[in-house]
Amino acid sequence: MQTDRTSLKEKSLVFIGFMGVGKTTVAQIVAKKLYRDFIDIDYEIEKEFQMPTTEIFNLLGEEKFRKKEKDYVLHYCKQPLKVVSLGGGAFMQEAIREACLKHSIVFYLDISWDSWKERLHMLVDSRPVLQNKSIDDIEDLFHERKKTYEEHNSTFITDNNDAEEVADYIIDSIKLAWELYD
Ligand code: S3P
Repeated sequence: MQTDRTSLKEKSLVFIGFMGVGKTTVAQIVAKKLYRDFIDIDYEIEKEFQMPTTEIFNLLGEEKFRKKEKDYVLHYCKQPLKVVSLGGGAFMQEAIREACLKHSIVFYLDISWDSWKERLHMLVDSRPVLQNKSIDDIEDLFHERKKTYEEHNSTFITDNNDAEEVADYIIDSIKLAWELYD
């Protein structure tokens, strides 16, 4: 793995994983407990375009969204002491993967398909990538993306845990890494 000169303790923590797995909620708790700034990439994009993601996709196109996503992630993952939540598709961009793995610590929040599909009805209105797709198409996308999320530094299966428990586990594991390797 490539590294940069930022000390392990100062590296930003980046959260990846499929839509609706709980990245934003967990990352927000982790940021608060570690006294760090929290950055939600989707929120930054929506703020800049002054519209929700669904409208950005519909009015401006996915390509514009992905370009902004790349600009924001490349900017924030290089800064020290942040906790950054990425949209579920961001890590599919090679430049984003490379930059995050080089400059930050990447946490993958995993979930089983069976648990995730229970959440679909709550997600579909605000996630353009899920719209106009059959359940089989969505399952294919879920498993396809899993392969790319495998390039991470640490992972946690969220199925039976609430966000607070996941955040505590992550904080314990990061503190152990700081003790062992810094
Ligand atoms: C996307 C995931 C969304 C958001 C956009 C595209 C994707 O973020 O970035 O709708 O391609 O998986 P969440 O993972 O926070 O839902």
